[in-house]
Amino acid sequence: MKFFLDTANLEQIRAAHDMGLLDGVTTNPSLVARENMDFKTLVGEICRITSGPVSAEVLSTETAGMVEEALALSKIAENVVIKLPTIPDGLKACVQLRERGVAINMTLCFQPNQALCIAKAGATYCSPFLGRLDDIGHDGMDLIPIIRQIYDNYGFDTQILAASLRHPLHVVQAAMAGADVATMPYNVFEKMLNHPLTDIGLERFISDFKKAQK
Ligand code: E4P
Repeated sequence: MKFFLDTANLEQIRAAHDMGLLDGVTTNPSLVARENMDFKTLVGEICRITSGPVSAEVLSTETAGMVEEALALSKIAENVVIKLPTIPDGLKACVQLRERGVAINMTLCFQPNQALCIAKAGATYCSPFLGRLDDIGHDGMDLIPIIRQIYDNYGFDTQILAASLRHPLHVVQAAMAGADVATMPYNVFEKMLNHPLTDIGLERFISDFKKAQK
């Protein structure tokens, strides 16, 4: 499973990259808005930190505008992936941009038929938003095995990018259900690395050893 960081914060991206576990980054307009930096400059900086795919989202809601924004964003770096909303105009833009070799991440996917259309449009990634479904009383994770089965039935190579993950268990469940990628906020990434028994055990090993050496 690939680990993407769901943030536009350069410090967090650097920290995950330095650990050697970062496969890519996803941003969205809300995450970018927190950083107080020019959008294209920020995307360029992120692409300098990681050579993995970096998703940058368009703001247009009609096909022509999406394609124009996408082509401009694609020029920032080779690893830029264009994020398009899963609406009819977004799918149309996806087909046009795929024909021009642009990598696409279809975002805001909430149901299996959207995921099927995303794969048929040739997107590189399909991003089901699991946490936002949980927020309205659904079990968002149910989507992953359904999409996995659909994609496997027809040999679609669109990657399932589990998004809107809110806690480490989401990552485990997405991995068990066969998601190709998990994109997570930095706090979830940090929590995945820790367990109190690891810290207690390590402290005990070191103190036992030191006592015996006296
Ligand atoms: C994914 O690409 C999105 O940026 C993200 O996962 C949204 O997460 P949220 O629902 O926690 O805002």
